[in-house]
Amino acid sequence: MSKKILLVYGTRYGATESTIQKMAEWMKEEYETELVDLRKTKAKEWPKVEEFEGIIIGSGIRMDRWTKEATAFLKKNREFLTKNKEKVAVFVSCGTASQKKFEEARRKYLVEHFEKNDLPQFHSDTFSGVFDFTKETRFGFLTKKLMKSIAEKDMSEELEWNFDEINDFRDWDQIKKFVEEFKEKIE
Ligand SMILES: Cc1cc2nc3c(=O)[nH]c(=O)nc-3n(C[C@H](O)[C@H](O)[C@H](O)COP(=O)(O)O)c2cc1C
Repeated sequence: MSKKILLVYGTRYGATESTIQKMAEWMKEEYETELVDLRKTKAKEWPKVEEFEGIIIGSGIRMDRWTKEATAFLKKNREFLTKNKEKVAVFVSCGTASQKKFEEARRKYLVEHFEKNDLPQFHSDTFSGVFDFTKETRFGFLTKKLMKSIAEKDMSEELEWNFDEINDFRDWDQIKKFVEEFKEKIE
């Protein structure tokens, strides 16, 4: 029987969601995968981590913060995740990684987040955000304006922006490598 893999995430604007959906798609031939949006599922209905041989947890970042549901998931399952560290992989989607400031993003959003929540340093990485300026965007009106001004002011040296389109700066080779390393760990 194939191994069961749980993929859970907290997203505000959809980048973490489409990243983890792609991971699930890559893995579904080999594994039995379950994908859960932690913000849309009541905490008491979250799957039991003990039933899985591998767990991937993802969160988006806003104002230096994880989604509270993804943090709550880590805290709720702290004991199991700590004891089964090798089964776990964690990522964040953030603008800092879009700017290729990976060391800064890792320290602020992974290393310090694990320390603060009394968790071990899991296999983890930071991936670029996705910035959707189309009519279908999940950015509200003010967020769209704010994001545009941050992009112009602080993020335009490294990146080329189009403020009518989806700006997807993800590096899919980096994301694939993260998944391959996770698969090796749970074998
Ligand atoms: C209002 C707002 C605040 C943000 N704050 C940060 C931040 O503090 N640090 C960062 O690296 N990225 C920041 N970002 C970029 C997001 O991390 C990026 O859009 C990411 O794709 C969000 O993940 P999500 O789409 O899964 O919610 C911010 C974006 C917005 C719209």
